Amino acid sequence: MRFFRKGEENKPQPKPNVETKGHPELKVISGAKISGRQPQQPSPPQQPQQQNITLPNVQYKIAVASGKGGVGKSTVATNLAIALANAGAAVGLMDADAYGPSIPTMMGIQDKPKTSAERKLVPLVRHDIKLMSIGFMVPEEQAMIWRGPMLHSAIRQFLSDVDWGELDYLIIDLPPGTGDVALSLTQAIPLTGAVIVTTPQDVALADVRRGVAMFERLGVPILGIIENMSYFLCPHCNEKTEIFRAEGGKNMSERFGVAFLGQIPLDAEVCTAGDIGVPIVAGHPESPQSEAFGAVAKELEAVLAESGEEDELTIL
Ligand SMILES: Nc1ncnc2c1ncn2[C@@H]1O[C@H](COP(=O)(O)OP(=O)(O)OP(=O)(O)O)[C@@H](O)[C@H]1O
Ligand SMILES: [Mg+2]
Repeated sequence: MRFFRKGEENKPQPKPNVETKGHPELKVISGAKISGRQPQQPSPPQQPQQQNITLPNVQYKIAVASGKGGVGKSTVATNLAIALANAGAAVGLMDADAYGPSIPTMMGIQDKPKTSAERKLVPLVRHDIKLMSIGFMVPEEQAMIWRGPMLHSAIRQFLSDVDWGELDYLIIDLPPGTGDVALSLTQAIPLTGAVIVTTPQDVALADVRRGVAMFERLGVPILGIIENMSYFLCPHCNEKTEIFRAEGGKNMSERFGVAFLGQIPLDAEVCTAGDIGVPIVAGHPESPQSEAFGAVAKELEAVLAESGEEDELTIL
């Protein structure tokens, strides 16, 4: 595993072996070597080093992660961001999934970010959320597979060269697994904490354990577990049917000694809303599905408030 050392970003880079057309401000694209699909290599957990990007105007920097793909991280991240904004918070959403960015589709926006007079990237705004995604910076058909150092550089740029302004929350949607991005992120900024998304089945337990262990070894607090696709809500009679094992996420959180932030139903509208670019919490804020996201947002706020009080007590 090789990471950028200080100043290495400025060294001349090899010519790309496929033509790439990216946003002019995306530093990592110039000279980037893109060599087709490569599997994401999990890195061994390490202690974060650098952390020289502080984002002082962002109160809470929260990673949304899972040990496993396809459990609904991006769906949860977008709807949670909108639920927090609906409650009055200033929210940014950073799509750190360079391998398969889904935030542009889920938030229904595909523009290119502009550059400010200070040569910072100006996040796009949709559903009251400030957005940045690798998907805005390179054409969609170039589903980018970045090598470790390029990823590291892109993640740092998204944190330091983007004009996020004053935010209460920066929600960061991670790719699946315990790979390079999580490591780069924890090396770049002091995260407030991570939220782990899981589905209720027992088989997800090992993945959650891996996710929790990674963040613990990186010194990132686990703010809680969100159980997605928990139950099916009948659209006709509103009856709850537990398709998978009941309360798996809750049991997991007890087992790991972390907060349980709540359950999100498995629902066709949640899926369709993401596909059409109007997340359910933006399109149908009064629906029971949106209420579930709202309850998770409230629980997260409570966990953060509690941890803030503990910090104050420690300082005293
Ligand atoms: N609660 C839900 N009800 C119905 N469909 C859902 C729900 N949550 C997510 N989905 C659907 O499941 C699919 C995967 O969701 P999503 O892309 O959010 O997962 P992910 O964990 O971010 O995936 P990846 O690991 O690839 O980044 C999407 O089609 C999404 O619309
Ligand atoms: Mg995703």
